Amino acid sequence: MGELMGGHKDKKHKSKKTKRSGRDLNGDACEVTKDRVRAHFLDGNTGPWAKNLAAQDAQTAHSTQNADDADAAEAAAVSAKSSTASVTPTRRGPDYSVPSSIDIVADPVLHALSTRRSISKVDPETPNDSDLLEIIRSISAVADHKALRPWRFLIIRGDDRHRLGAALDEAAGVVRKPGETNTKPLRAELLLALVASPVKHDKVPEWEQHATASGAGHLLELALWQAGWGVMWRSGTLTNSEPVRRLHRLDDHELLMGWFYIGAVPERYRQRLPTSTRPLPKPEQFLDTL
Ligand SMILES: Cc1cc2nc3c(=O)[nH]c(=O)nc-3n(C[C@H](O)[C@H](O)[C@H](O)COP(=O)(O)O)c2cc1C
Repeated sequence: MGELMGGHKDKKHKSKKTKRSGRDLNGDACEVTKDRVRAHFLDGNTGPWAKNLAAQDAQTAHSTQNADDADAAEAAAVSAKSSTASVTPTRRGPDYSVPSSIDIVADPVLHALSTRRSISKVDPETPNDSDLLEIIRSISAVADHKALRPWRFLIIRGDDRHRLGAALDEAAGVVRKPGETNTKPLRAELLLALVASPVKHDKVPEWEQHATASGAGHLLELALWQAGWGVMWRSGTLTNSEPVRRLHRLDDHELLMGWFYIGAVPERYRQRLPTSTRPLPKPEQFLDTL
């Protein structure tokens, strides 16, 4: 947010940059992405603070200092209050009396989040590898403590799916007749295997790095959904068996987190979607106070 607000202050710089579009400009994708982020927050009026950015720009260093002082006073008050609360603990639960101004139907990203579905039977058309690179680019901002990047995906297409079937058979002790094959990995033309690849770090335990890798998986599903592709995340008890790990060339410290079966959303499914009545789970069950 600090960087965004810094970007807002540099208005000359911003207006010059926002004339640029796409990645054909010196391949400067990072700059374009920054511009999009600025546009999202500054021009899109997103979030409660977006409306006040212009006013904030006019604030002097003096007022910033005042705000800091106020923050310190507030923190002291909260601290005093919490020490009182610890004497007489009460659990009040969330307060829903003030209605939300967030519209998950009107906002395209929130809408995509709330309508995402797994598609168990996808059609054969798939994103190409360049499409996949863009999808990965879009999810690479996944929350990642110390930016350790503890995840990667492996592309599995064509005959590599048969190799996966053979590895699963070997793990299960299944011996097939000549010409027969394990058809499970053939349920889509494209699979992406997600590998969690944690590193040793004093401050970031392995579980946090698995959380990041898992986040990359969920973002992948969302990004594909938003880009119009169908996907389903699958795993199983044999996922980290020796033959399967060997096929994916995993190091000992790595973990296979399953496969994303990817393809086109079938037309019949697309037609059913607008009238689908699958309810979302009640959000209250996921929210509480201490
Ligand atoms: C890590 C992980 C592994 C999964 N493995 C399987 C699986 O092997 N088979 C399966 O039917 N669903 C599996 N699922 C669940 C599906 O991907 C999907 O989430 C579920 O069918 C519910 O559908 P929805 O995503 O539309 O809510 C897995 C989900 C996750 C997150």
